This record gives sequence, structure tokens and C-alpha cells, in this order.
Amino acid sequence: MRTYSIAIDGPSASGKSTVAKIIAKRLGYIYVDTGAMYRAFTLAVLRAGIDPKDEEKSCTLIGKINISFDSENNITLDGENVAKEVRTNEVADNVSYIASYKEIRLFLVEAQRKIAQNVSVVMDGRDIGTYVLQNADLKIFQIASAEERAKRRYLENKEKGLKTSYEECLENVNKRDYIDSHRAFCPLRPAENSVQINTTEMTIGEVVNRILQLAAERGLR
Ligand code: CDP
Repeated sequence: MRTYSIAIDGPSASGKSTVAKIIAKRLGYIYVDTGAMYRAFTLAVLRAGIDPKDEEKSCTLIGKINISFDSENNITLDGENVAKEVRTNEVADNVSYIASYKEIRLFLVEAQRKIAQNVSVVMDGRDIGTYVLQNADLKIFQIASAEERAKRRYLENKEKGLKTSYEECLENVNKRDYIDSHRAFCPLRPAENSVQINTTEMTIGEVVNRILQLAAERGLR
């Protein structure tokens, strides 16, 4: 059976995961949150008492830990559901260091490509259209102003019962954007044939409809 893939990339808190989840459900595809995988690796590094700024030591966990998703699509670390833990400030503050290490990226990209091998996917991240799924049937680059993204993250965290101020969210969004777009290997940038969507003034429903329309135009089923 022919399978399809949709890549959704963009900066932190640009609404990728909210939209990607809905689209996956509507099309009957699997949703793959690659950011959660980098976050889980970061959690493992912190739990091991390793400084995430220490590349060599962080890389020693490659092949020793298992990062995947359970049947309810929760991120798991060695079989444990860590969906809540990967959202903490400590993980958010350190994940972009971990995501800048090439060996760790190659380890996680291999797992991501394996998931997409035999099923249709909506995969979101930073390098899906440019690297992980270069042949994706539809590539979206989703952006929004830093202030709007910080506001969204602040409200999202509040809903999840996580304590973060708007200022902390804005600082974190800006810091990660900088590191993510300046790293040497697979930096955050739009894929050549991607469609850019600025969601600053759009509702979730509007973004979803736009992507579904693009998918239909390309014959995705
Ligand atoms: O939810 P949010 O957009 O804030 O971030 P995320 O998608 O959970 O990703 C967390 C971090 O993982 C990003 O800031 C990147 O440093 C890294 N990441 C990456 O480098 N490549 C990906 N494909 C996905 C995430």
C-alpha cells in the first residue's frame, strides 16, 4: 500500500504539534513528535547527572537508552511514560544543546525514519523536510511572532499545571530559536519546496484547513 508523509517544521511553540495531531487524526496517519524524542534524550542526560553542555558525556548514552512511543503515543524512556517530565523548564532549557550534537541527532533520526517506513505520518520538528524525510509529499514551514509563540506556550504550560511566567517562555523561545538555527548540523531552516504558513493571526482551525487543502491538492489520502 502507498504511504504518505507530511513534514511540519518551524520554530519553538509555533503550534506545530497541535496542528499536526489534528491533521494526523483527520487523515488517519500516525503523528510523530520528534521534539519529544530530543526532550526524552535530554531527560535521560539530566537523570544520569551529566551536564547537557558536555557533548562527549551526553553522547555516551547513545545506544544505551530506548526512546519510543507507547500505544497512546506518549513519549517513553526505557519503557516509562515521560510525557509530563519532558515538558519541565529544566528540559526546555537544555534540549537545544542536546539537539545540536550530531551523533545524538543521527541516533534519533534513525528511529524517526524507521517509524515512517511502513505507515503514513505527520512528523513535526526542525529538520523533517530538510533531512529526516527529504521526500515528504508535503512540507510545511510554520512560523509566528516570538511574542505570540511565548503567549501560546505560557497558556499551554498553565493548562498542564506547569509553573512558568510569560517572560520565561519568551526567553526560552528566543534562546532555542537561536541555538536551533545556528547549529552546524541540520539547522532549523525552511526546506526548498516547503509552503510557509504564518500562524500569528490564524486560528488552529484555519491552519488545519489550509494544510488539509494543500494535502488534497497533492493527492494525499
Ligand atoms: O514544542 P516546541 O516547539 O517548543 O519544541 P519541540 O518540538 O518539543 O522541540 C524541542 C527542541 O528539540 C527544539 O528546540 C530543538 O532544539 C530540538 N529539535 C530538533 O532539533 N529537531 C527536531 N526535529 C525536533 C526538535
